[in-house]
Amino acid sequence: MTKNLDEAMAVIRKYAPNFYPKIGMILGSGMTNLSDQLTDAITIPYQAFGLGGTTGVPGHASLLVLGYLNGIPVACLKGRLHLYEGVPYESVATLIRVVRQLGAHHLIITAAVGSLHPEVQPGSLMVITDHINHLAGNPLVGPNDESIGPRFLSMANAYDSDLRDLLFECADKLGIDFYEGIYIATLGPSFETPAEIRSFQVLGADVVGMSVVPEVIVARHAGMKVVAITVVTNLAEGLSEEKLTHEATLQYGEIGARHIVKLLPEFVAAIGAEIAST
Ligand code: HPA
Repeated sequence: MTKNLDEAMAVIRKYAPNFYPKIGMILGSGMTNLSDQLTDAITIPYQAFGLGGTTGVPGHASLLVLGYLNGIPVACLKGRLHLYEGVPYESVATLIRVVRQLGAHHLIITAAVGSLHPEVQPGSLMVITDHINHLAGNPLVGPNDESIGPRFLSMANAYDSDLRDLLFECADKLGIDFYEGIYIATLGPSFETPAEIRSFQVLGADVVGMSVVPEVIVARHAGMKVVAITVVTNLAEGLSEEKLTHEATLQYGEIGARHIVKLLPEFVAAIGAEIAST
């Protein structure tokens, strides 16, 4: 195990000696209040892991929340670390590996995105089917810890198709609609130029964002099944007259997040039932 991971695990085990989550969740902007629904919650600030502390981004918290959602033990990363803050890949990786090390085999990622399709409007939800890594790097660069995962990792079905099917079953019951599409990751923190957005459309991307990809790579490396649910907070630069601001992003994020906050307890229960039956 890596030093960071060992240290973080030691800290968590002091707070929660006997907590073994089945599912990990990354709660992006607008979605963090889902963790208020957890029962018997134990909250640990990321600072406790020596990972660089609070994100400083309005709308983003920096807490690991352990607790039960619909009776299923879950580990919520309430607010994520973003590379654009200058956080090293290793810190992003450690948070995901901690969740896996605690016991979770499933990871539900939520995030805000910009839409590359004018008809996919702010407030819409999109489940990610695949990604394009347009970041400057990869979180697995460097020595590989074989006890965590392989040196060369297949990214086929990285966004697990069975989990997506299960998600759609839950969403259908609640009357919640999703688009499906491909996520392209940019480093940020500046939004993209209109020319970049046009090039991403040509590449085949459907939505753009500044996270998700490193998290999915690390989670897959550690053998986790991943599903990524995104909220469209804006049309990408050049596709609308509206000026892009983080505040506008948060406002529309709230609208889509309401559906996600309704859906996730059902989805977590469905995954829990599936785990129990295998
Ligand atoms: N670009 C990048 N990241 C984003 C956007 C966007 O338009 N909207 C929300 N996150």
